[in-house]
Amino acid sequence: MTADQYPPPGDLGEILFTAAQIETRVEELGRQISEDFAGRTPLLVGVLKGSVIFVADLMRAIGGPVELDFLAVSSYGEATKSSGVVKILKDLDQDIGDRPVVLVEDIIDSGLTMRFLVEHLKAQKPSALRTCSLLVRESAQVGGLTLDYVGFRIPPAFVIGYGLDVGQRYRNLPYIATYRDG
Ligand code: PRP
Repeated sequence: MTADQYPPPGDLGEILFTAAQIETRVEELGRQISEDFAGRTPLLVGVLKGSVIFVADLMRAIGGPVELDFLAVSSYGEATKSSGVVKILKDLDQDIGDRPVVLVEDIIDSGLTMRFLVEHLKAQKPSALRTCSLLVRESAQVGGLTLDYVGFRIPPAFVIGYGLDVGQRYRNLPYIATYRDG
């Protein structure tokens, strides 16, 4: 297989967002965060592993001091999404009490992980807590949660690329596409 056949054409659906479209949107979000946190140093908290590519680009789109930390969660363990269980596998390396925090996700799918993590972080009393997700499902249930920075809203379809995987692959695609399994 050559690089231009990755993923195999039969597995790839429609390209939803090109690398250029993603870049433009990430720049806009970065500018917005820079303005909102002017004079402060926000801590970006990326949720492993899907947000890695997005948070790396987002922090470089922020024109000012910014810090970075990561959380790792296991959303569903062995079970399905309906089990509604989120477990923290890796917590923050630092105390976020009295610090401005932006929680950064690649995708809000059901909304379970974001709802859980907002409560988890709020309990540590940050001075501000904003939420950011590159993709949000139109069907996501976020309850009363405000989504402060949203890249794109997407319909139901399995999506890959720019951090999003299937079986841990395709995170390195520069675009976001739908995936057809066979
Ligand atoms: C994805 C995504 C979110 C979560 C969203 O992570 O990165 O953390 O699912 O789903 P929800 O809104 O239904 O809770 P995933 O479990 O696929 O792990 P990954 O980030 O390592 O790919």
